[in-house]
Amino acid sequence: MKVSEEILNLKPYSPGKPIEETKREYGLNKVYKLASNENPLGPSPKAVKAMTEAMTSLHRYPDASFYELRQAYAKHFQLSSHEITFGNGSNELIDLLIRVFCAPGESVLTSESAFIAYKVCAQAARVQILETPMKEDLKFDLNTLQKTLKEKQQNQKIRLVFIANPNNPTGTYVSTSELDAFLKFTESLKDILVVIDEAYLEFVRAKDYPSGLEAFKKYKNVAVLKTLSKVYGIAGIRVGALIAQPEIIELIDRVRNPFNVNSLAQAAALATLEDKDYLEQVQNINWSGLDSYYEELEKMDVRYWRSEANFILIDTFRDHKKIFEALLRHGVIVRPAVVRGKSSFIRLSVGLKEENEAAISALNKVLKDIDKIES
Ligand SMILES: Cc1ncc(COP(=O)(O)O)c(C=O)c1O
Repeated sequence: MKVSEEILNLKPYSPGKPIEETKREYGLNKVYKLASNENPLGPSPKAVKAMTEAMTSLHRYPDASFYELRQAYAKHFQLSSHEITFGNGSNELIDLLIRVFCAPGESVLTSESAFIAYKVCAQAARVQILETPMKEDLKFDLNTLQKTLKEKQQNQKIRLVFIANPNNPTGTYVSTSELDAFLKFTESLKDILVVIDEAYLEFVRAKDYPSGLEAFKKYKNVAVLKTLSKVYGIAGIRVGALIAQPEIIELIDRVRNPFNVNSLAQAAALATLEDKDYLEQVQNINWSGLDSYYEELEKMDVRYWRSEANFILIDTFRDHKKIFEALLRHGVIVRPAVVRGKSSFIRLSVGLKEENEAAISALNKVLKDIDKIES
């Protein structure tokens, strides 16, 4: 069977190591999974109730037009219902955007060390991925992205630009003035859609963080991705949203599987959207967890970057595979990360207090043990 080079070269997305597998492999009773930037609180009770009620209608297909969900989200974000659609997680929407806007051989532009799905989805669609270097402080370098567009847009047929704001795995963000200058420039280009991926928006505390929705309202060539997997706590049932001009939404709706978001997911997304108490609780757990990480990491021989998301990137200055394996033996699952070509990084999600404390205590021990062996 003939398979294209792009598919053969595809490195599959590696999900965080599952808890049960880690328990079995390491003979552990207790395992803390801080590898996938999940919400540690569990879903909103309102979402659970809505899903339970929706179960009695599971003999019916889901609403392919997302009528109620569209109305509710449009109202919540002050949009027209024609400016929004939904996906099986925002990951599916990344895939669909690339399939709709890029023909094989055309290109997607993003930064190095950006969210990995941009690259995987592009490659799967036989679309080239162009990555510009990050700034020293691990932020997207929008000036370099702009320069690349100026120099290469025509030849490389760049159709989409992905900006994860905040970015995963770095937790860094681009500011209002940086984004605005970039969007002013791209507005004058033809056939370019800038996608702002706001998966972690609700965790941001930075004052100069730009609203993707405002950018969408100001610039015609901007689309915004949102997810219910993070602050809204329903990663397991998969709902993401795309906000874009109606012509774009109409194209995505043409291509997507009509029943891509199942009935339980639609019910949960509807119920969780207005659960302000739950949202606040999740935010507070995250912010106090991050602050305690900062405090503890200051005392260790590592470097970390202040995060606007629900995880923290740490340069351990040591081989991250060794750290990852040793942490597993202590029952803590983290995510090794390669940043700017260096394999010394790990990404640690914020969990509940007990989970964070277990992770920090294990990391402390592991660093000391590795240094002892290597000295
Ligand atoms: C920046 C970013 N965008 C999008 C996603 C995908 O989220 P989902 O497919 O669960 O909606 C993630 C998941 O980790 C992410 O980090």
